[in-house]
Amino acid sequence: MTDASYLPVSKLRVSNLSKRFGSLEVLKKIELDVVKGEFISIVGPSGCGKTTLLRIIGGLEHSDEGECKINGKNIDGPGKDRGFVFQQDNLLPWRTVQSNTEIGLEIASERLSKHRERIRSLLELVGLAGFENYYPRQLSGGMRQRVNLARALAIDPQILLMDEPFSALDAQTREIMQTELLRIWEEGRKTVLFVTHQIDEAVYLSDRVVVLARRPGRIQEIVEVDLPRPRPLSIKRTPHFVSYVDHIWKLIEHDVRESVLVEHI
Ligand SMILES: Nc1ncnc2c1ncn2[C@@H]1O[C@H](COP(=O)(O)OP(=O)(O)OP(=O)(O)O)[C@@H](O)[C@H]1O
Ligand SMILES: [Mg+2]
Repeated sequence: MTDASYLPVSKLRVSNLSKRFGSLEVLKKIELDVVKGEFISIVGPSGCGKTTLLRIIGGLEHSDEGECKINGKNIDGPGKDRGFVFQQDNLLPWRTVQSNTEIGLEIASERLSKHRERIRSLLELVGLAGFENYYPRQLSGGMRQRVNLARALAIDPQILLMDEPFSALDAQTREIMQTELLRIWEEGRKTVLFVTHQIDEAVYLSDRVVVLARRPGRIQEIVEVDLPRPRPLSIKRTPHFVSYVDHIWKLIEHDVRESVLVEHI
């Protein structure tokens, strides 16, 4: 007999989800179950609907068909249970690191004095202790993305939605940010949905990689990444790691070529 308490609880359930923009079928019958604390990456060619999927889960966009549930409850708008980190750092230039980090709490009408200690330890967690009073223009790209991450974590979301958060960073900073993100994730074990174009980033970070195909955007394969944690950066040079990257690249190569070489519309 199976004891139900041993079965993993699905934190996020996307079922039969479809979305069109006019005549364009963007997402078709997406099925995805994400377990609490899982790190999931989503890869796929440009225009396959990655951002749209994340926006629907974030409650910023409606689907046409299907369901999207968190803890069994339908998503009907943005909420404190989900934190967003976007590609562009959308920090407010007139606010300090500390005050940018607090924006989400302000929007949720939380009393800031209640959260001061948590914000302090969050800024420490993302490596920004000592920079609380800096303005965005005084920070490097990597530091700005750390503020973005701290801001998303400040509302203590259950799910972190990250849309190409490191794509504007140089290659070395990006690798450091990957290790930092894993370190932070190991500490808090949030459920993460991470969109990226870089296959090795997806494999390095994730428990599972969702590979999308385009026109319409649909799940081609969900690849389980069976690599031990914690993962040092050197794991990227192991044959096991490289075989995952090769496998995923083969899945999307044709679509990527098309998305780059053929007219989009
Ligand atoms: N608000 C909108 N109105 C009309 N079409 C849209 C809208 N948002 C997205 N699209 C279209 O939906 C498709 C999927 O877009 P989406 O941004 O989700 O792709 P993506 O996989 O995130 O691409 P990229 O990798 O380039 O970021 C694209 O063809 C895009 O033009
Ligand atoms: Mg996108």
